[in-house]
Amino acid sequence: MPNPTVLASGVLGLSHAVLGRVARSGAGAVTTKSCSLKPRPGYPNPTILHWGPGLINAVGLSNPGVEVMVEEIQEAKALLKPLGVPVIASIFADTIYDFGTITRFISEAEPDIIEVNVSCPNLDDRYQQMFAADPYVSAQVTRRVKRYTDAPVLVKLSPNVTHIAKIAEAVVEAGADGITAINSVGPGLILDVETRRPVLAHGTGGLTGPAIRPVAVRCVHDICRAVDVPVVATGGVSSGRDIVEMLLVGATAVGIGSAIQHRGIRVFEEASRELETYMRAHGHDSLASLRGGAVIEH
Ligand code: DHB
Repeated sequence: MPNPTVLASGVLGLSHAVLGRVARSGAGAVTTKSCSLKPRPGYPNPTILHWGPGLINAVGLSNPGVEVMVEEIQEAKALLKPLGVPVIASIFADTIYDFGTITRFISEAEPDIIEVNVSCPNLDDRYQQMFAADPYVSAQVTRRVKRYTDAPVLVKLSPNVTHIAKIAEAVVEAGADGITAINSVGPGLILDVETRRPVLAHGTGGLTGPAIRPVAVRCVHDICRAVDVPVVATGGVSSGRDIVEMLLVGATAVGIGSAIQHRGIRVFEEASRELETYMRAHGHDSLASLRGGAVIEH
């Protein structure tokens, strides 16, 4: 990767043209919106709202399905290869078994990395609970995915659990090559007090943006203490200062998503420059020399 910033899943990640644009604006890697076996229309609008300290969203995993996404990923790879920017394919399925099937299909596009979304908070009751809520289920999904691909596998975890480190240990034991943390927080609920109804058509939604960054930093810290694989730290990162914070608790790279809403896609290049300024000022000539340097005495 040319720098440690990654376009997080769920934002600008459905077409090769837009992924290309994000890469040309300075992202070090890009992640697609999660792709499912069949097309999903997603939830009705409004699906996303900026409410001050962050965003709330319930998009409903809308995507055109794996057949179309394979073509998009192939074209994105062709565009991004000369820039040295890897394409991360995010996948989602309804069952442990289907995680294997979608991995088999998506592998046709030869993504550089596969990210396994076991942690969307916006699912209907029929799913009962997120895969990422249970270490055993998360490990089974990971094993299933690993059976069908040689690409490195990142498993994206949820902060909405009691001990995220236990889930991380289970997926690494099952073969995960790295972890992305965190997915959105919640779900949360925001009402319009005039109509007395939820502001989102789906009702509840996942929280992202600056409000959740301290939760993300704590989760990444806990994970990095428990396992020895690269962590893509995601959750409220919007500046070089935020990247430094994530590196200090042990991250290898950082995901950026909601920040695009307020800083635009310049955020990748700008945050990378801010990171370099910090490194120069503190005498660091490599990311490795910053990684894990937090002083936390408990
Ligand atoms: C959606 C998916 C996610 O993984 C998430 O964190 C938030 C929203 C969605 O598509 O609804």
